[in-house]
Amino acid sequence: MPKRKTGRLTLSVIILGLETSCDETAAAVVADGTAVLANVIASQIEVHRRFGGVVPEVASRRHIETLNPVIAAALAEAGVSFGDLTAVAVTRGPGLLGSLLTGLMAAKGIAFACNIPLITVHHVLAHVYACFLVAPDIAFPVVALVVSGGHTDLIYGVSHSEFKLIGQTRDDAAGEAFDKVARVMGLGYPGGPAIEQLAQKGNPTALHLPRAMLEDKGYDTSFSGLKTAVVNYLYRQEGKSNQVNRADLAAAFQAAVAEVLVTKAVTAAADYHAKTLLVAGGVAANGYLRACFQEEARRRGLHLVIPPPALCTDNAAMVAVAGYYRFLRGDFASLSINAAASLPLASE
Ligand code: KG4
Ligand code: ZN
Repeated sequence: MPKRKTGRLTLSVIILGLETSCDETAAAVVADGTAVLANVIASQIEVHRRFGGVVPEVASRRHIETLNPVIAAALAEAGVSFGDLTAVAVTRGPGLLGSLLTGLMAAKGIAFACNIPLITVHHVLAHVYACFLVAPDIAFPVVALVVSGGHTDLIYGVSHSEFKLIGQTRDDAAGEAFDKVARVMGLGYPGGPAIEQLAQKGNPTALHLPRAMLEDKGYDTSFSGLKTAVVNYLYRQEGKSNQVNRADLAAAFQAAVAEVLVTKAVTAAADYHAKTLLVAGGVAANGYLRACFQEEARRRGLHLVIPPPALCTDNAAMVAVAGYYRFLRGDFASLSINAAASLPLASE
């Protein structure tokens, strides 16, 4: 049992976090923004795998079935009851609207029934807060790269209440490129882990793939040309009846993505005089990318924070932590707030 109610000065802030923006139904209980008492994730990957990607209607129906048991499991694992909660935090957007609504409605019900604050969280910022969970004393200003299935966002943050988007993808997100390339290579869904595994047996320099916008001075990225280059390479080799070394192709693709991401993020960190570079989101679970960032940060003497892989992919602990910092500012949402499929970072 956490230290709440044991003494006037030792009250803990216990936040229930909920995450349902895509295909993970997740609930977590976090005390004081640092102690994860429970972090439960029910993945829908098996449901969507046969379609080769997430089917929105199927996802929201599955969230409805799964959310209550997932919340009950999180509370039980944390050893707390609804009455122990200080606040409930939930992802309001961006994401699949039907999926977001299931989490938001559940959070509103809990806030109302328990008479506790409702805190809404931007999904991309929640990924950033996975970094504050593992390193609460991160020094501002920060530059954060959130690299996932829906986003390749570079963010500049000067304080917990001031984050601004400084770069994004012009087309596909990096994770989306991993998923699409995996699909054409017949590796299934989700593509990131499958490509990473295959790439371990390949040579990243066996063939050279394009690195779009690398020379460009801004912080935007583009990955659709890289994906097309992989598709064209496969068709060309097949047309010539050449055997394709798929491990080399996976490794070369992964290396091209990593070089662009590391270059853009490290350049932004230098230009913005960031004290800390944060890297988060599902693609940051990639071991090769993590090693590239670690190597470059070491070379430049840059302070780097990347959460462990399980906190990079979607989870509700990051939502609870993002909610904790909003709780400290008294930044609560009204029970009439709506979900938002696309939600600009600046509006949060
Ligand atoms: O953050 P996340 O779980 O969900 C979104 O907010 O999108 O990210 C999912 C994305 C997928 O595109 C998945 O293929 C990618 O992260 N991903 C990876 C790895 N694990 C997940 N990409 C590369 N390497 C991985 N190990
Ligand atoms: Zn995500």
